[in-house]
Amino acid sequence: MPDRKKIYGYDEELWFEVLRQQQNTGERDLGTIVSALESYGIGVGKEIVDLGCGTGRISNRLAKVGYFVTGIDLSLKCVEEASRMAQELGVSDKTRYLVGDYRNVEIFSGKKYDAALCILAPAWNSTEEMSSALTKLSGIVRRGGILLLRESVKERFLVSMAVAPSTQNWFRFSGDLLSLHRWDYDQSKSKVRAVKEFYRKDEKDASLRLLTKIEQEYTLRTIAEYINAFQGAGWEVCNVLADSVDLLNLAKYNDPWWAFSALFVARFR
Ligand SMILES: C[S@@+](CC[C@H](N)C(=O)[O-])C[C@H]1O[C@@H](n2cnc3c(N)ncnc32)[C@H](O)[C@@H]1O
Repeated sequence: MPDRKKIYGYDEELWFEVLRQQQNTGERDLGTIVSALESYGIGVGKEIVDLGCGTGRISNRLAKVGYFVTGIDLSLKCVEEASRMAQELGVSDKTRYLVGDYRNVEIFSGKKYDAALCILAPAWNSTEEMSSALTKLSGIVRRGGILLLRESVKERFLVSMAVAPSTQNWFRFSGDLLSLHRWDYDQSKSKVRAVKEFYRKDEKDASLRLLTKIEQEYTLRTIAEYINAFQGAGWEVCNVLADSVDLLNLAKYNDPWWAFSALFVARFR
């Protein structure tokens, strides 16, 4: 389970820096999210909770178009940045940010929202943990309300590897930080092993210094597996949206993991 010092195996400082690099990728997500919300009658003025809101990339944009948003994240640094941005954008009156673990639903003090978002912010290692989290989350959404969950799915990952094997290796230079990622897929276990290296460019001689190397393992789930978990937890999956992506230009997405993802639209029955 991630804690406040380590977020998905990253030191919080580095995690914060990585998320800040993705701030400007929010517009594309916003369009898909707002149209999904509107299709289920959740128009501006409604109350949304953003689970694992990071630096408010989505929350603040939703507030800007007129939603009332509560964002929650494990990282104090991220939440502080989200609040700072809310002020800068003039949406402090429409946003509320909390530090905490969204699986501890007591943090919401019994409040029910019109919709919950969980955008690339999973907090489970197994299907059982996912089912338990989805069951708890049904308690924070009004009956008929929706949950939008964006997660990487096996189908999209495999297609990406087949169509553009270069997606297995990815890098980004942003500011003085170089990120190098490599993914290896183990078919027998349906697991992806990720090796991520981060280097800092020295101001004086431009040499690169290795900051950290993080190794992670992801279980890839099929769309059907997600749908089963939703259904078992009392949600009806109304739609699964997969944006088209340019696999040869992954630099324009948050990181390649986004490109392998789909957006599940589920309604609490
Ligand atoms: C990849 S970021 C995505 C942030 C944001 N949803 C976005 O799309 O920009 C995932 C975030 O989820 C947060 N997170 C992961 N597990 C969490 C949990 N159990 N409770 C609260 N936040 C969590 C992490 O701290 C991280 O900031």
